[in-house]
Amino acid sequence: QGIFTYDPGFKATASCESAITYIDGEQGVLLHRGYPIDQLAKESNFIELCYALWYGELPNDDQYESFKTNISKHTMVHEQIVNFFRGFRRDAHPMAIMCGLVGGLGAFYHDNLDITDPEERRISAVRLIAKMPTLAAMCHKYSVGQPFNYPRNDLDYAENFLYMMFSTPCEDYKVNPVFAEAMDRIFMLHADHEQNASTSTVRLAGSTGANPFACISAGIAALWGPAHGGANEAVLATLDEIGDDSEENIQRYIEKAKDKDDPFRLMGFGHRVYKNFDPRAKVMKETCDEVLAEIGQSDNPRLKIAKRLEQIALEDEYFIERKLYPNVDFYSGIVLSAIGIPTNMFTVVFAVARTIGWISHWNEMLSNDFSIGRPRQLYVGYDKRDYPSK
Ligand code: CMC
Repeated sequence: QGIFTYDPGFKATASCESAITYIDGEQGVLLHRGYPIDQLAKESNFIELCYALWYGELPNDDQYESFKTNISKHTMVHEQIVNFFRGFRRDAHPMAIMCGLVGGLGAFYHDNLDITDPEERRISAVRLIAKMPTLAAMCHKYSVGQPFNYPRNDLDYAENFLYMMFSTPCEDYKVNPVFAEAMDRIFMLHADHEQNASTSTVRLAGSTGANPFACISAGIAALWGPAHGGANEAVLATLDEIGDDSEENIQRYIEKAKDKDDPFRLMGFGHRVYKNFDPRAKVMKETCDEVLAEIGQSDNPRLKIAKRLEQIALEDEYFIERKLYPNVDFYSGIVLSAIGIPTNMFTVVFAVARTIGWISHWNEMLSNDFSIGRPRQLYVGYDKRDYPSK
C-alpha cells in the first residue's frame, strides 16, 4: 500500500503554508495578518479587514476608499439570477439555495476567466465579496415571499445587507446603527479561521483549477454542517429546547451533554483548535449585551439560559478536563436573532462573512507553488477476489 501517515480528521497534519491567519489554540489567540481579532473587532471594520486579508497589509486612506468603492460597484447580480429561485420550493433551506446560486455565478463569469492571472483573481474576489450579501438577502426575501431588494451603494456593507434583508416597498425602512455595527462585527468575527473544514474544502477544490465560484460553493456546502457553521443555528435550537433557566433544568442538559449514550452535545461549546476561550466568543458576548440593551431585552430568556449554561459548564469537571469552552457560535445566534435575522439565515450570514477568508486562501494557494490535493487512504476492504462466473 505504500507508507502513509494515518491522520483521520487531519488532527496533526498541516496541509499548506499560510501567512493569513494565526491561531494559538492553547492560549486562545487569533491574529489576522498579525493583528489580534479583539483589536480588529473594536477598531477596524469588515471592509478594511477584507483588504488586509486579501492584500496582507491594512490599507491607507486612498486604498481603503478605492477598495470600498470597487466592492460597492459589484453588488448587483445579473437579473437572470432571479430565474434560479424558480427551481426551489419556497421553504428550501437558504444554504441549499446559496450553494446553487454561488456555484451558478460561475456560469456568468466562466468564459475567459484565467485564474493564473492575479488581476482576474482579484476581480473574482471583489465580485464574490460584493454579491454575497445580495444573494443572501434574496434567499431571505424568497422564503418570506417578499420582492427582492436591489443593493444600495450609498450604504456601508453591513448596513446594505440589513437594508436588503428587511426593507419593503411599503415602508420607509431605516437601518438601526447599533444593529449595523453589530452586524459588521459579526462579519469580522467570522471572516477567517485558517484551515477549518470549509476553507480546506475551498483549497482542495481550488487545487484542481476549478473556478472560484465553484470553489466557494463547495466551501458553503462544507460550512452548512452542524459541527461547523451550522452550529449557530443548532445553539438556538438547543437554548429553545432547554426552555427555562431553572437550575435543575439546565443541570439536566449538562448531564445529557456528558452522557456518552446520549447524542446530545452542548452546541456552541468546544473547538478543534481552541483549548481555551475562543477569543471571538468574548467579543460576541459583549456584542450580544450591546444589542440586547439597545432593544431593551437585557433579560432576554435565551441569554439568561446561555449565561447560566456557560457558567455551569465552565465549573464542571467534564468540560474542564476536555478543555471545552464556548466558541464563536455560542452567542452569535442570540445576537442575530435580536437583530431580526431568522434562524435559517444564521449560517448564510457566516458564509457571507467567510467568503473573504475562503477567497484569500484560494488566492494564496494559486499565488504559490501547489499541487492537486489528493489524500491517500489505508485500504481495509477485501483482498483481490474473482468475479463469480455465471
Ligand atoms: N458537548 C459535549 N461534549 C463535547 C462537546 C460538546 N459540545 N464537544 C466535544 N465534546 C467531547 C467529546 O464527546 C469528546 O469526549 P471524549 O474524549 O470523552 O470522547 C471530547 O469532548 C473531544 O471531542 P471531539 O469531538 O473529539 O473534538 P473535535 O476536535 O473532533 O470536535 C467540535 C470539535 C467543534 C466538532 C466539537 O467540540 C463539537 O461538536 N462542538 C459542538 C458543535 C460546535 O459548536 N461547532 C462550532 C465550532 S466553532 C465554529 C466553526 O468554526 O465552525
